Order: sequence, then structure tokens, then C-alpha cells
Amino acid sequence: MQMSRRNVFVFLVLILALGGCQLDTNVKVIKMGHAQVVSHPVHNAMVFLGQRLEEKSGGRIKVKVYPNQQLGTERELVELLQIGSLGMTKVSAASLEAFSPEISVLGLPYLFRDDAHMNQVLKGEIGKELLVSTEKFWLRGLCFYDAGKRSFYTKSKPIANPEDLAGLKIRVQESKMAINMVRGMGGSPTPVAYGELYTALQQGIVDAAENNPPSFYNSRHYEVCKFYSIDEHTAIPDVVLVSTKVWESLNLEEQNWLQEAANESAVYQEGLWKEAVEEALREVIKAGVEISYPSKAHFFEKVSGVYELVFKEQPQLEPLIQRIQQAKE
Ligand code: GCU
Repeated sequence: MQMSRRNVFVFLVLILALGGCQLDTNVKVIKMGHAQVVSHPVHNAMVFLGQRLEEKSGGRIKVKVYPNQQLGTERELVELLQIGSLGMTKVSAASLEAFSPEISVLGLPYLFRDDAHMNQVLKGEIGKELLVSTEKFWLRGLCFYDAGKRSFYTKSKPIANPEDLAGLKIRVQESKMAINMVRGMGGSPTPVAYGELYTALQQGIVDAAENNPPSFYNSRHYEVCKFYSIDEHTAIPDVVLVSTKVWESLNLEEQNWLQEAANESAVYQEGLWKEAVEEALREVIKAGVEISYPSKAHFFEKVSGVYELVFKEQPQLEPLIQRIQQAKE
């Protein structure tokens, strides 16, 4: 259930009054907001993070998780973190585009050759650099969560090749990279917040969207979109973040516990992901969704313009993109 705007406002006022990290006698409670429903594997991973932190700190630090966009859209959550009114969040790397130009490269279509390449990049030096790249914006990236691969889902017809996107309003995240990608493939990109997407699809404000299988399933968008075309155009990870204000209020030992708990939750989440993908595909098929596997080559051909635009508008990102492309799995 999404909250009404009034309820969101009341929540925000409450959060602002209480601050991102609440001191309850001797227990610190870190508030963590995110946009997914509680059945989604990333929600379980965040709950696990909280449990591990509580155990490590002997009950002195707790994490209270607010799911379902209760505290705001991903962009709003990041902004609340920046001012220290919220302690932690988990957002898609695409939602960090406006906050860290470096992280925006993760939104490039067909950036990774395969899962091994992606893991090598995100778990290695480059991944570490990307996580700390947000620090100048008062955000500290703690770890990545696997968010699989994103593919198109549509209301009226399968997408066999990019030409089928012509004339369709495709919901994208608030991300220039995603806008350029959909435009490059021939569709009409329309940014809509994740929590408002079900209604936007239902009411025909958009004709289609794109996401990984667990999100397509858990958001129930499959009730409206009966065609899922697995072109796997992007593999944008999720990022777990803590406000630097909260991070700096922790002593060194507490910071280590939090970092360890985040790392352990990433391993836990990775373990949940494969099964969540299989379950999602199984369940949406049962609900009457037609799944197709279009040739990726057709989509790949259309996205060179997205890279060219980045090289032209943000030439400083070119060496990073090359390092990612050259990373060996
Ligand atoms: C993924 C991601 C979410 C994000 C969503 C979206 O599901 O994990 O963090 O909100 O995509 O498309 O907005």
C-alpha cells in the first residue's frame, strides 16, 4: 500500500523532528527508508542488515526499516540522507545519477559482458571507488545489492526489436542515462517515481516500463503488463547508503560493525536473488504473462549513441568507462 501525500508529509515531519539516528536511552536507532514492498528480496536483506548490526553491537544499535516509499521517492530519500534527517537508504544506482556523476556510468546499457564481469567491477577497486564517490554529497555508499538485469514490459504487445518501442511511452527512472537509452532505441521516455508506476500503467499515463524480474513481480505490475521481453538492456545495481552525518556520529567500532553488517547483508541478498528471479518468472507466467527473449544484438546496435553522448557531455567519465570495459572477469 502506498501512502497518501498527507501521510507522507506527516511522516516526514516526524522524521525531521526525530532525526536520522534517534537516541533512545542507550540504544541508537538508525532509520532506513526504501521504495520496495516487503516481499522483495532487498527488503529482507535490509532487515538482515539490521539484525546483524544489533547482534554485533549487543543491542546498542538498531535499524528500523520503512519500506514502500513511505518516507518518499528514492530521490527524496537521498535528499533526506544528505541533511541527516534519515539515517540510511537503499536506492537504485540510477537514482544517484544527480548526486554522483561517476555512479551514473552504471546506467550505461550493455556495460557488463556478463555476471562475472559485473561482479569483478562492483566487488573490486572500481566498486569501492564508486561507493565513496558519493561522500562529497554527504552520502556514504556501504555496499551494492544485486538488482539483476532490466528488461521491457508492456501492456499491448511484445517487444521483439527496438522498432516495436516506437510510439510507446516508456516509464524510466529519474535518470538521464535511462532517458537517452529509451530515446536511442526509439521509444518515448517518461520519468515516473516507482511508487506511482502501478497507477500510471493502469491509467495509461505510460504504456510500458522496464525492470528486473523480482521487481516486475513484487510490484504487481504484471497484473497490468502482460508482455515481458527479456532484452536485459541494463544491469544497474542497488546501493546501500548511510548519511555521513550519522556515520560521523558513530565511533570507529560502531562504524566497523555497520560496514560489516552491510557487507554480510550483500552476501545474503546475493543468495536470495537467483531464486527470487526464478520465482518471479514462474509466478508471472502463471498469471498469464507472455515472456519472450528478443535478440539482444538489435538493442545493442541502438545504444552506441548513449555512450557518445556521455563522451561528449562528460568527457571526464571516459577513462572510468574504459577501465570498466577493460576489467577482466
Ligand atoms: C529496481 C530498484 C529500485 C528502483 C526500481 C525503479 O527495482 O531495485 O531501487 O526503485 O528499480 O525502477 O525505480
